[in-house]
Amino acid sequence: MTELTVRKTEAAFTRPDVDLTTQLGSVTFPNPVFTASGCAAAGQELDQFFDVSQLGGIVTKSIMLAPRSGRATPRMAETPSGMLNSIGLQGPGIDAFLDKDLAWLAQRGARAVVSIAGGSVEDYAKLAAKLRGAKGLAMIEVNISCPNVEDRGQVFACDPGASAAVVQAVKRSAPTGVPVFAKLSPDVTDITEIAKACVDAGADGLSLINTLLGLVIDTDTMRPALGGITGGLSGPAIRPVAVRAVWQVRQALPDIPILGMGGIRTGLDALEFVLAGANAVSVGTTVFGDPRAPIRVLDELAVALAERGFSSVAEAVGLAHRPPEIRLPEGPDPVGDTLGDPAHDDEEQL
Ligand code: FUM
Repeated sequence: MTELTVRKTEAAFTRPDVDLTTQLGSVTFPNPVFTASGCAAAGQELDQFFDVSQLGGIVTKSIMLAPRSGRATPRMAETPSGMLNSIGLQGPGIDAFLDKDLAWLAQRGARAVVSIAGGSVEDYAKLAAKLRGAKGLAMIEVNISCPNVEDRGQVFACDPGASAAVVQAVKRSAPTGVPVFAKLSPDVTDITEIAKACVDAGADGLSLINTLLGLVIDTDTMRPALGGITGGLSGPAIRPVAVRAVWQVRQALPDIPILGMGGIRTGLDALEFVLAGANAVSVGTTVFGDPRAPIRVLDELAVALAERGFSSVAEAVGLAHRPPEIRLPEGPDPVGDTLGDPAHDDEEQL
């Protein structure tokens, strides 16, 4: 038996009996844990460590119309509790991606969430049209928020009108019945304004969040550490920002499906996103250090849900938005038992 085979089969773990299915637009996924775009290419490498078809879905690296070599090196820099990347949307172009990567995912039985990125509204429309009839395609993630572009004017997700124009064009061209999610940037004053514009334009859901624009200076060279100068910050450092974004959008749009991401390393991190309002989560940066992380997070999330008495993940979505629990002095009281009961109105609220 090879080492890789051993690693793939090492987890002798029985997942608790919790209904993990989640609905994203018209598609029901078997569980709510996905990879994050840009952190696992199209899943082949991760499949050495676990069966990628066991995840809710594989979100592929954003693909553009033409092959692209990306930005100058170095393209990655470590930061406290995170990393900065400046890849610049390197990729083989949509035709090669369809032939090789998406075909592999389909043959593997994985649910592919194809991330698309363009330089113009027309690019996005063409990419969406290319996905018509593609086998294995479960969902489209429209990356309108990559920070590693020539100028901020190309970050469509910084402007509600530009975001809406892309979403509308993708919806017109995309295969019928395939949910279209728009991936938003946290680098805006009011993310709910952009979210609403995307939903009004026809987005079936939202992916929250892309990386934050950052910069690292190398104190030896006394120059920016990245060839592209700026980069996108990811990892646990951004988790509170991401949870905040999910919370705000869930509050503004109570019914819109949300795929949440940003610094998830454990099942409890994933649960935080779910409680804030995410229907599913993507696990990203942590796979660079722990390639089994997505499947581990799935197991840990199932345990965390069971331990808290949930019989399904759906029950936990957005639960942090409920009114504060009223607790009796002796200890916790089940939610609802005392809520709205005037007899408890002046008890201490924790
Ligand atoms: O540079 C990159 O390829 C990153 C893309 C993204 O964050 O969307």
